[in-house]
Amino acid sequence: ESVPLEMHKVRIVQKLNLLPIDQRLKAISEAGNNTFLLQNADVFLDMLTDSGVNAMSDQQLAAMMVADDAYAGSATYTRLADKLHEIFGMDYFLPTHQGRACEHILAKVLVQPGTVVAMNYHFTTTKAHITLQGGVVEELVADAGLEVTSDLPFKGDIDIAKLEAVIKKYGADKIAFVRVESGTNLIGGQPVSLKNLADLRKVCSQHGILYVLDASLLADNLYFNKIREESCKNLSIREITRKVADLFDIIYFSARKLGCARGGGICIRDKELYFKMRGLVPLYEGFLTYGGMSVREMEALAVGLEETMDEDMISQGPQFIACMVNDLDKRGIPVITPPGGLGCHLDAKRFVDHIPQSQYPAGALASALYIVSGIRGMERGTLSEQREPDGSEVFANMELVRLALPRRVFTLSQVKYAVDRIAWLHENRRLIGGLEFIDEPPILRFFYGLLKPV
Ligand code: F0G
Repeated sequence: ESVPLEMHKVRIVQKLNLLPIDQRLKAISEAGNNTFLLQNADVFLDMLTDSGVNAMSDQQLAAMMVADDAYAGSATYTRLADKLHEIFGMDYFLPTHQGRACEHILAKVLVQPGTVVAMNYHFTTTKAHITLQGGVVEELVADAGLEVTSDLPFKGDIDIAKLEAVIKKYGADKIAFVRVESGTNLIGGQPVSLKNLADLRKVCSQHGILYVLDASLLADNLYFNKIREESCKNLSIREITRKVADLFDIIYFSARKLGCARGGGICIRDKELYFKMRGLVPLYEGFLTYGGMSVREMEALAVGLEETMDEDMISQGPQFIACMVNDLDKRGIPVITPPGGLGCHLDAKRFVDHIPQSQYPAGALASALYIVSGIRGMERGTLSEQREPDGSEVFANMELVRLALPRRVFTLSQVKYAVDRIAWLHENRRLIGGLEFIDEPPILRFFYGLLKPV
């Protein structure tokens, strides 16, 4: 059995609490069975997300101390912009406070009513920003990418034939941009191959369509390019990164996931496009040399981006995730395979196959897992969808409970504890019942909607 080996040591720790089960039951009931509404003090292992909670390195913390405080023209900003230029090779950079702020700006500038954004798969905030602007989202991930269990190495790949059909249907001038999400979040952190990225570039160039990368989960994706793709085997992570970046017109990212614990930004190749977007940064984010980030975050981000070029560093997440996924899979517990990045994803459709999609099986499973373990996961299923304009439910393709493994945060014994509790819950899964809304917010309802047992 292969055991992942940490290529770092722990030098600062944070104490955890494991509440008794009756207190956990009380806490989740008060949170409306929504794990977003739990207090972190009531959580033992927080696997809600990897956003803003990855471990920081000693070098990052040290860099924060030398950050240059200035509203305008901070040397820290220049160091960050230079690092991004060095890694991605794009001339222009706009800083933002986080990933969804990039999506806001891109949608405001590029999306109008009647236009379409073609993508491998949506992310919640991405879709919300596009549809708020009156745009339509077309998801073009290959059908095989949506099969929960598989041994396909790149389930995030777009089906080129589907893209061509969408271009034909709407006309190339109606396609606002093609968006590829690396480490495709909502289908289980599944990677996209360099080959697919290059094939998509050809189609975009042929039709004059803008080509955009959401690089929030790029670190995991680079690891999978390196180990699963023949053409990348002999390339360094830095070389693969540049091959990826060279294909795109725009790269945006949430620095809460890539390179730091806060922030975000948009890298742009073309000057005209940069000018079109630039004005929105001081309006919504902050002046052009901080964009809502603190100088300390920007300094740590510049260091974190450099550290992302280190294979040892980016291996930790995917290797721990593989360990967890393979252990659960061996025990016959339904999980997304092959293991991806981001975290381990339980397949609630099979785990609680007695709960209909109208009763939010993934939400119910996330709630039950917290009760039996103190582990906080995130519903990524129908609850995380938005209703159609006529109010009807959109049943998600996949009903998942995501157990994110923030990078370099949890130990292997904590992962084993999680596996043990999930196994217990699986044996006793008929105890879990469905949920219904008590209070359903109209936008991004999963964040703060309240539910009760049916
Ligand atoms: N794009 C992707 C692929 C993401 O995973 C996220 C955030 C965003 C954009 C938005 O970035 O949070 O900085 O505004 N994903 C987090 C998650 C929230 O938990 O998966 P943000």
